[in-house]
Amino acid sequence: PAAPRLVIVSNRVPAPKERQQLAGGLAVGLAEAIAGRETLWFGWSGDASDNVAAPQITTIENLTFARVDLTRSQVKGFYEGYSNGLLWPLMHYRVGLMEYRRADRESYEEANERFADALLPLLRPDDLIWVHDYHLIPLGAALRARGVRARIGFFLHIPFPPLALFEALPDCDSLLHDFAAYDLVGVQTRQDADHLDAAGRARGARLRVQAFPIGIDPDGFAAQARRAEAGRDVRRMVDSLGDRALILGIDRLDYSKGIPERLRGYERLLQRFEQHRNKVMMLQVAPVSRGEVAQYKALRRQLDELAGHINGSYAEFDWSPLRTITRSVPRGTLAGFCRLARVALVTPLRDGMNLVAKEYVAAQNGEDPGVLVLSRFAGAADELAEGALMVNPHDPDAIAEALDQALRMPRGERRRRWQAMDAAIHTATAAQWGTSFLADLERLDPQENAEA
Ligand code: G6P
Repeated sequence: PAAPRLVIVSNRVPAPKERQQLAGGLAVGLAEAIAGRETLWFGWSGDASDNVAAPQITTIENLTFARVDLTRSQVKGFYEGYSNGLLWPLMHYRVGLMEYRRADRESYEEANERFADALLPLLRPDDLIWVHDYHLIPLGAALRARGVRARIGFFLHIPFPPLALFEALPDCDSLLHDFAAYDLVGVQTRQDADHLDAAGRARGARLRVQAFPIGIDPDGFAAQARRAEAGRDVRRMVDSLGDRALILGIDRLDYSKGIPERLRGYERLLQRFEQHRNKVMMLQVAPVSRGEVAQYKALRRQLDELAGHINGSYAEFDWSPLRTITRSVPRGTLAGFCRLARVALVTPLRDGMNLVAKEYVAAQNGEDPGVLVLSRFAGAADELAEGALMVNPHDPDAIAEALDQALRMPRGERRRRWQAMDAAIHTATAAQWGTSFLADLERLDPQENAEA
């Protein structure tokens, strides 16, 4: 029999375009699972409108996009408030940054109910439904309440904190109950699985949780990086560097990424290891993200201030040590910058996986590869610790020392380390992630959890 139709639900749905243009974490991860199989991708259009209508539906070959608008008040309460002002910091262990408001909680429930109402008429009984990320935790239960009996899986792309932190959430029990409505819950790492499992046990919710570390398409990204190497942007970058080594950071402008901490580490390098002054240039690409949320506004000011301070302290008339870009940069150009960079600094304070770490590895020239400096608190640390220089991102001196070591590292050691990482990113790929989650979900008995 033909594979059942796949229904993907995520808060963000890419604008309907030709399939090969799908880029970014989830889209890359799903490309293989989607290929050659009928798929419906449902979610938020990214727009707000107050006369809420039926989803806008576009079909390209066997992939159908269905996108709904949110109301302005849902954008504030569901997206900016509960999802990004509360769940995001909590899940990244930053309880002190949480902003809890009951009105946001109601908006979160309401938006999930709206999603369920809009999705319901599009569903078929034998669909395989896969819901993504923290915006949509209650969606499975909302679909079950409307009589949906199909298999429903969920994947949490961000970390899950230890119980003692999770319990800070006033709604922790109902959220765990929502997790329990899914037939299968996937998380990034063993640690996340242990935390969610323990929270479920402690609070009496029965969950089926398993780790499925997400990966990339390493060969596709490598090819993109090689192509970009000859392109205009990379040539301009090479010209502007002269013979200086490029140190690269690429992140959404998010406090979980440890960007100020990283810049302090770079500053310590310039302070303590004078021999690198005027021999390196750091580029931090940090496109503004969730710019309406208070914690993110504060971060942007902090970045500008720190960058000004570092350049003001160490620049010479022919050299600025640091460039920051808060606009978004095309993916191909970033791939080329990765290939060019002598060192990548991937130093999140906490991260679900971090695909930039894997992309940096994929982009290297294996004959003369660069060095990855990686936070032990990135999900990717599980797979890349053997080849990366591991740091605790809270310690600027540790970052400075790792940078110094990376810049001095002989080619033989760089190659050995890179080979270990390159093998790892070819083992757990995006394709493997999507197909293994779906295979496990498909194998389950659909009736078992139907009466949640
Ligand atoms: C993270 C989350 C995604 C989210 C993305 C961009 O990767 O896991 O769910 O879509 O950040 O954030 P945004 O708020 O712009 O959707």
